[in-house]
Amino acid sequence: MNFDKKILCIGAGYVGGPSMAMIAYKCPAYRVTVVDINRERIDAWNSAELPVYEPGLEEIVRKTRGKNLFFSKDIENQIKENDIIFVSVNTPTKTFGAGAGKASDLQYLEKTARQIMQYSRSPKIVIEKSTLPVKTALAMERILSSSKGKITFEVLSNPEFMAEGTAIKDLENPDRVLIGSRETKSGLKARAELIEIYANWIPREKIITSNIWSSELSKLVANAFLAQRVSSINSISALCEKADADVTEVARAVGMDSRVGGKFLNAGIGFGGSCFKKDILNLVYLCKYYGLQEVADYWESVVKINEYQQERFIANILGSLFNTLAGKKICILGFAFKADTGDTRESPAINITRRLLAEHAEVTVSDPKALKNAALDLADVKGNIFYEEDPYRAAAGCHALAILTDWDLYKKLDYKKIYKSMIKPAFLFDGRNILDHKKCFTIGFNVYPIGKPARSHFSEQDS
Ligand code: NAD
Ligand code: UGA
Repeated sequence: MNFDKKILCIGAGYVGGPSMAMIAYKCPAYRVTVVDINRERIDAWNSAELPVYEPGLEEIVRKTRGKNLFFSKDIENQIKENDIIFVSVNTPTKTFGAGAGKASDLQYLEKTARQIMQYSRSPKIVIEKSTLPVKTALAMERILSSSKGKITFEVLSNPEFMAEGTAIKDLENPDRVLIGSRETKSGLKARAELIEIYANWIPREKIITSNIWSSELSKLVANAFLAQRVSSINSISALCEKADADVTEVARAVGMDSRVGGKFLNAGIGFGGSCFKKDILNLVYLCKYYGLQEVADYWESVVKINEYQQERFIANILGSLFNTLAGKKICILGFAFKADTGDTRESPAINITRRLLAEHAEVTVSDPKALKNAALDLADVKGNIFYEEDPYRAAAGCHALAILTDWDLYKKLDYKKIYKSMIKPAFLFDGRNILDHKKCFTIGFNVYPIGKPARSHFSEQDS
């Protein structure tokens, strides 16, 4: 079959897989191929059990795979055959050398650029979909333009704004699509070609363009602003606990100002996920690199408050359980970094669970989608750790429950039944503020929400 466009994506991860599945789904006249150096990942994309859990993803992949969506291990030939190449490889925080702990580790991106240069036999549009430090496109252009032949490459920036758990919804109906390009004739032509792809399903006014550096920087700033909101409300949750205010009520009152808006103001145990922390630290590194120490300090405080929030939660569990967890059984409800995903990267649950185990607690972890990843994250820990998908079985015989992920499922559990099965006094730490705390207190739990007064049956704490 003759396809109108041939599109390749290098990197079949949380972004590459779903975003290309969406292009294939919306553009049946295009052939979309996704490659990866991780062969098992490609096998999984070609199997019945996809490597990424996202509501709605399976259906889209089922409708397109083998028709105009392909997952392949043959990176060399796919680079040769395709004209438009998205790069969606991982860009983790560097763990070694200069900038360790803050800067982006660009080795995967650079290897990809070199592969593209080596195998290309015709002009290509190369699109940065990974989140990158500003000016990365320059490095990309320099590597690509060092090719010996006369092949031309045009580098575009097209950062991805989807969130996990809502990826399909976000990809189908994004707030905006951002395309950054050089403002040269060839840059503008490449930009128009990419606009044409998205215009298949996204209203033209939502496809915005900018210069290439603004585009790279916008992605880091967008994540920094979102994370900043979470840290802002979390910092206020600490004050609410001291001042007998309720953070949900404060967030509602503040968020109803249309200039502020109500989203991303849920206090909790802090943000997780593979990107917020790494992208802010990258922003901090960039600011320091350009000599902007005060700006760097400002953004670094967003990460510090996030760590502080987790510390507060752990200290609260320890303090409420009479300052000893040794031999006590604690049930963790939710290990994913947010609901509707099996992803546990940078999940606050990892640190919290490790700290409880370090106090010699016996921990049972429950999660509907993330138990496999949880077991990998905790593979090296010593201590009594158990995994149980069924929340009722996980909670039975425990001294305390700690809700760490806002799964809908946990809002609907029969807490009377759970309370009956637990050791008394029973404790409930709602790290996501998703339960009816008054009701849980009436059932008999000692309830510890975030940013709201605790409800305990111990008289000295009631005063
Ligand atoms: P991921 O780790 O899930 O996937 C990256 C994939 O790239 C891996 O499967 C890896 O094997 C592959 N890869 C690395 N080097 C390669 C090479 N040389 N050739 C072929 N494949 C190679 O990462 P992700 O979560 O999909 O994130 C990718 C990028 O997108 C990151 O920069 C991230 O910051 C950004 N981003 C992620 C999200 C998200 O929700 N996860 C959202 C927006 C942006
Ligand atoms: C985030 C951004 O929302 C996406 O736009 C971006 O594309 C993506 O990062 C990325 O670059 O990887 P994601 O990390 O998947 O998406 O999920 P979010 O919904 O942003 O949640 C991040 C964390 O913040 C979660 O741990 C969540 O529980 C927490 N959060 C979020 C809160 O604690 N309170 C809130 O009010 C909102």
